Amino acid sequence: MENEKNSRGQWGSNFGFLMAAIGSAVGLGNIWGFPYKMGASGGFAFLIVYIGLVAFAGIAIMLGELALGRKTGYGVIGTYKLLSKKFAWVGWLGFLSGFLILAFYSVLGGYTLRYAIGFLMEIFSAGAGFGGLGSGAFFGAFTTNGASQIIYHLLFMGITVAIVMGGISSGIERFTKIAMPVLFGMLLIVIIRSVTLEGAMTGVSFMFAPNFAAFSEIGFMKVLKTAAGQMFFSLSLGMGCMITYGSYLSKSENLEKNAVIIPIADSIFALCAGLAVMPAVGAFMSQGVEGISFGAGPGLLFVTLHQVFSAGMGGLIGDLFGFLFYFLVFIAAVTSAISLLEVCTAYFVDKDVQKGTSGNRKKHTMIVGAIIFLVGIPVCLDGLGAGRAGGAMIDIPATMFGMSEVRMAFDCWLDFYDMIAEGVFMPLGAILMSVMIGWVLKTDVIKEEIEVGGLKMKSFRFWEICFKYIVPIVITFVLFGQLDDFFGLGIF
Ligand code: TRP
Repeated sequence: MENEKNSRGQWGSNFGFLMAAIGSAVGLGNIWGFPYKMGASGGFAFLIVYIGLVAFAGIAIMLGELALGRKTGYGVIGTYKLLSKKFAWVGWLGFLSGFLILAFYSVLGGYTLRYAIGFLMEIFSAGAGFGGLGSGAFFGAFTTNGASQIIYHLLFMGITVAIVMGGISSGIERFTKIAMPVLFGMLLIVIIRSVTLEGAMTGVSFMFAPNFAAFSEIGFMKVLKTAAGQMFFSLSLGMGCMITYGSYLSKSENLEKNAVIIPIADSIFALCAGLAVMPAVGAFMSQGVEGISFGAGPGLLFVTLHQVFSAGMGGLIGDLFGFLFYFLVFIAAVTSAISLLEVCTAYFVDKDVQKGTSGNRKKHTMIVGAIIFLVGIPVCLDGLGAGRAGGAMIDIPATMFGMSEVRMAFDCWLDFYDMIAEGVFMPLGAILMSVMIGWVLKTDVIKEEIEVGGLKMKSFRFWEICFKYIVPIVITFVLFGQLDDFFGLGIF
């Protein structure tokens, strides 16, 4: 089943692979999603649920993806095609998910770049970076300025394309090997500043205080679903990112160990991001600075934190930390975006390799990147739904299928892309992969791949139970939870 690895590329070292994979996992999901979801859904209680999910579903899906990718030596489409006739189409779910997620992820990445540049300019001259506007007013002006967003979306995509064009070891690995340690260092500096602010404990307790009452108030099922959705997105699972990255891994590396290290590192980053963000928000909220609260969504990352740096910390220090923070988020977003682009690029490189040519990576990357850029443009043009006076973008209050409650409502293009990819394709992809491994190919397929380099598989029974039962059951539940959310069915 092997192909000539050399024309596809390979990681230079296991450390390089880990930095790339952790770079894929650590992104906007950690810095933006995790802190407020944890705070709003039970604090420490949420964390326990999250860790349970990572341990019993996340790690197994990670191992499954890495092993299948390394076994076939192809990206997500090639892998499913080679492994099973019945499941061949599943690869396309992954390809399309990567495509759609990157289309909006790049727009948001562009935002982080805009804010980093904004604070950088403020350092040199007050008012230069944000036009003298307050945080809320600036966000409103920026998100309704389509041309400006398109330019930053283009810049972000251009950087992503440039790195992926460089190939596996001399592009992705070379970048992430430096970026990830730097990222962690910057995060530590921001954490130290954040937790030493007066009133920081308000934020720490918002995030960490155990609130088991959330289980009954919000409902345990909702908490579980929120945690599971977060886990999927944060670990880059369910769409073949890890299949693709695994396909460049040498047969001598330890898959079981890697499959455990990546989720642990990702969770540590998420907790650190929480410690960087929430104490600062809590501090200035309790000091009574206007416009700061534990909000959710784009408001938290862009409006609230902008306010934290410009009005809370203020002055040169505020600008310096503002730059440091948004630059750090930008780097985290780039290392995730390259993994999404690589999923799509790999398909075309694999096709060349199968035809016997060496694969024109540069050309494929540019073309795929350009198309994804175009697909992202609608996301830039609808002001995240804010500019729309008349309610939702797509609103079908249908008595569809005779169900009167069904309401297909998406506030904006971003939600729409996200619903298809994260809401449906990714959970479905993970369920099908698990069923394929656990019931069709049997867990031995994973065992063989782990042991191919002479290592012994350590926990066969554990993984088998995960693939056969835990993952399909838990993720089916997530899938229905997501559909429930998007269509407002009101099941949970
Ligand atoms: N994990 C990244 C984050 O937390 C985003 C991401 C990268 C992703 N690759 C992915 C999400 C694949 C889902 C699937 O921001």
